[in-house]
Amino acid sequence: MSLITINGAKKLKGSVRLQGAKNSVLPILAGTVLIKGISVIHNCPALSDATAAIKILRHLGATVSCEGHTVTVDSREITAFDIPDELMREMRSSIFFLGAISARMGRAVLSSPGGCELGPRPIDLHLSALNELGLTIDEGGGVLNCSCPNGYTGADINLSFPSVGATENIILAAVTAKGVTRINGAAKEPEISDLADFLNSAGANIHGAGSDTVIINGVGSLSGATHTVIPDRIEAATYLAAVAATGGKIELLNVIPAHLAPVLTVLKQSGCEINVSGKSIVLTATARPKRVPVIRTLPYPGFPTDAGSPLMAMFTLADGSTMFVENIFENRYKVVDELKRFGAKIYTNGRVAVVEGVKSLSGATVQCTDLRGGAALVVAALAANGTSEIGKISHIDRGYEGLIENLALLGADIKRC
Ligand code: UD1
Repeated sequence: MSLITINGAKKLKGSVRLQGAKNSVLPILAGTVLIKGISVIHNCPALSDATAAIKILRHLGATVSCEGHTVTVDSREITAFDIPDELMREMRSSIFFLGAISARMGRAVLSSPGGCELGPRPIDLHLSALNELGLTIDEGGGVLNCSCPNGYTGADINLSFPSVGATENIILAAVTAKGVTRINGAAKEPEISDLADFLNSAGANIHGAGSDTVIINGVGSLSGATHTVIPDRIEAATYLAAVAATGGKIELLNVIPAHLAPVLTVLKQSGCEINVSGKSIVLTATARPKRVPVIRTLPYPGFPTDAGSPLMAMFTLADGSTMFVENIFENRYKVVDELKRFGAKIYTNGRVAVVEGVKSLSGATVQCTDLRGGAALVVAALAANGTSEIGKISHIDRGYEGLIENLALLGADIKRC
């Protein structure tokens, strides 16, 4: 079982080129199922979640090749309509495949993704929306047996919460539907626009992605496409939090600064100097972070829930108390007990966590509880005095390519062993 060991309290300095966004590449790979042709996807990050998505594509009958960060998917022949249980378990977001497989094959059989480390994570919004578009869902024994033998028919869908995954699943189902689908109350995350851009380049007719009303005019079929995945804003937030915690200077390359606006606002309030120019962000941290009164996670364009944990680790060292209010997931604070092992002072009550800054952290032996919680432990260990050991790092491998190598280039004393 791999561990990350870090000798902390070293200032970080240098530059990092961001990977493609994990949360874009997964629905885009699902989208290739719709395409009776060849999709070439550039800037595809080497992550275990992306590998899991590729395994699903191969199981479905697609031919997939990977060269560097380019993945080529030939989905002219799709022969299966099921996702085996072990592949569903490898990646809970494989529910994205439901809309695409059922649209292409008229059927889909998936095991129910169930709960996860962030709380129950239901899929009721996905299922009720796909049902409104024509999917019949028979759920039993942990299996979703779905069919729409005559294909999907466009409809008006009103989402009661702007679920990212549900918005993406509806888009995937509706792209080749008969007629027009209108999603009211859609999620506005940049990854949704990226999915729409990919599908539009394959011949789809989607308008309004990135706003709360998405209109999908169904088209008969999609042909091959070439697309470059947008940079990963959560990876960016993680590196910025790390340097804000240790002190130092970092330049992020290949970033879309607008996607990070709420994170940059918080980092500026905490005393970091931030310079944005084109596709680069430079952060300089010369002093202990200042407290920020409240950070509330919200759907985009609000502060992203996925950046909450890495920034929480940074605020454990602030000059006062910072309150986090988590509005998206129920179980985001599992990492808190691990952060306390470094000497952090954090008090939680339901969706609220109060982080009372301390002057220094000490190295600790900890275990990742989830992907972004794992990133938070790395941030804390980089800033802590002494040696830390981080276990269960498979969580981190789901979302960060080359994290250890990048941090070592920034001057961290870090290795995987
Ligand atoms: C996606 C991201 C994840 C991010 C999250 C919120 C991917 C692969 N993952 O997850 O990193 O943290 O958006 O920005 O893109 N909900 C329901 N019923 C549903 C669907 C969702 O109640 O049918 C609830 C969830 O339990 C959660 C909230 O809505 O409390 C947000 O979920 P959602 O936006 O769907 O997140 P994901 O798409 O799972």
